[in-house]
Amino acid sequence: MTILVLNGPNLSRLGKREPEVYGRQTLDDINRELANSFPELSLEFFQSEDEGKLLEKLFQVEDQGSFCGVVINAGALTHYSIALRDAISAITIPVVEVHLSNIYAREEFRRKSVISEVCAGVISGFGANSYHLGVRALLGIVRKATL
Ligand code: DQA
Repeated sequence: MTILVLNGPNLSRLGKREPEVYGRQTLDDINRELANSFPELSLEFFQSEDEGKLLEKLFQVEDQGSFCGVVINAGALTHYSIALRDAISAITIPVVEVHLSNIYAREEFRRKSVISEVCAGVISGFGANSYHLGVRALLGIVRKATL
């Protein structure tokens, strides 16, 4: 089973960026831990600062046909990108939204996600563990669909 773990803008700065909010692990650390935790899965990792590249990646994995879903941390795009929302709507594979921080316990503008409605579900506030829970949630969806 192949899963795409997709990260949006500024997540390349994890480890250095506001460690009191996002922790001290780098994105590479998080990705490595994730791959080690799910040796039975094939995880592909992609991060971009560029909204268009994230959209292209979603369409690529959809068209490729071998991916069973996506775990996405869209960073700030979460809060305003209708283009990203439309791209998630446009694909058929399930997408699970994750956040390191609890976006519902932060500034007002972060409490609204424009992508949640088109995602299978949201996991927010568990630090790097949000990604692990996201992969687990996705596996649950895929297994249910193939029963
Ligand atoms: C984030 C939360 C967003 O509000 C923020 O813009 C990010 C990271 C998180 O993982 O907690 O870049 O998605």
